[in-house]
Amino acid sequence: MRVSTSDITGKKKGSGSNDIFEKCRNFTRPSDLQSAGLYMYFEVFGDREGCGAGEVRMGHRKVLMFGSNDYLDLITHPKVKEAAVQAVKKYGSGCSGSRLLNGTLDVHVKLEAELAAFVHKEAAITFGTGFQANYGALSALTEKGDVMICDHNLHASLVEGALRSSARTVRFRHNDMDHFERSLENCPPEEKIFIVSEGVFSMEGDIADLRGIMKLAKPYGARTYVDEAHGIGVLGATGAGAAEHLGVLDDVDIVMGTFSKSLASVGGFIAGERSVVDYLKHTARPFMFSASLPPASLAAAGQALQIMKKEPERRVHLLRIAQLLRDELRSREFNVLPGETAIVPVVIQDELDLCRLCKRLLEEGIYINPVLRPGATQNLLRISCTAAHTEKHVDRLVTTLVRVAEELGIER
Ligand SMILES: Cc1ncc(COP(=O)(O)O)c(C=O)c1O
Repeated sequence: MRVSTSDITGKKKGSGSNDIFEKCRNFTRPSDLQSAGLYMYFEVFGDREGCGAGEVRMGHRKVLMFGSNDYLDLITHPKVKEAAVQAVKKYGSGCSGSRLLNGTLDVHVKLEAELAAFVHKEAAITFGTGFQANYGALSALTEKGDVMICDHNLHASLVEGALRSSARTVRFRHNDMDHFERSLENCPPEEKIFIVSEGVFSMEGDIADLRGIMKLAKPYGARTYVDEAHGIGVLGATGAGAAEHLGVLDDVDIVMGTFSKSLASVGGFIAGERSVVDYLKHTARPFMFSASLPPASLAAAGQALQIMKKEPERRVHLLRIAQLLRDELRSREFNVLPGETAIVPVVIQDELDLCRLCKRLLEEGIYINPVLRPGATQNLLRISCTAAHTEKHVDRLVTTLVRVAEELGIER
């Protein structure tokens, strides 16, 4: 005889509060937005065949993409695609195992050496994603008796790493060096200090005061960790990120990077002193207990790194376009947050206005991500520039934005 859920629980399936799935059925925020025609997530993109620079396909339409982190426009670069194809031909589609056991290829070792040299460190270790790199490194490197002093606006992967660690965590107000200094002063002398920041903050696009951090950290013997997910490829004389841009790259103890943005692939890395990297290889759980990066991802990232080094003009063009966009939007009285990176965030106070604006822009053939609180400290139209964008694209975006914002009665 079959026993139904109601037999076991004494209640009808799903109707009782002791059903673990009850919360899922009551979670209506996405469906509420969908019913209002304002849901902007999980949009489906198609192939890029026949798309022009800066364009992506959505259904039968070509859409101007201002929401991608492919900062150097390398995802569809023929050499990057070819490197991935050749890697699959040579090595196959995957490694089917962890680096520790059966998943280390010569291409892992080669790319790690190149990445380490690129960010001026002794050694590097690659992870399946940037998220895993942050989560794995922070949780492995700190223990009870340590303190992690973190900027308030950290990416979820860093926050999760800090939560997983048994170290004490202190958060200082975003980029506030006075508050940072007080956080340092308040640490008992026996605590070992680890300072964690992003180089470029992912949502607001501003640059961390790494000079201030380094200067204040030194007398405490504190170690420093900088996530350069949005800095690599964008900032610095060689594209090594915000720390290079501010002249403190050699002072940073650990540089973290991801392949999912300027490096046109998927994966993440941590670079630092060799003993630290070796320690992570044997203690970072997302590294030890997860399959290694597949050959195609490594080859694509490796090729993107070569192009990044050889073609600094991509970075120069990207920053010029982003600055042009900031200037044009400000001249039309949009509230653009200060910054000098590829991320151009426009404050749109009202959440519904922001969703409406993004929907209307999409109808007009322009894709931009809305970032809603608490994803950022304010509701933001997070415009993301890439090296594929031209002055014409900027002009189209600004003209359309002005018209649509007026049409919807959105305050600037
Ligand atoms: C600052 C920052 N760190 C880490 C990550 C995670 O990188 P990945 O996409 O490689 O997991 C992201 C991605 O959005 C990010 O913005």
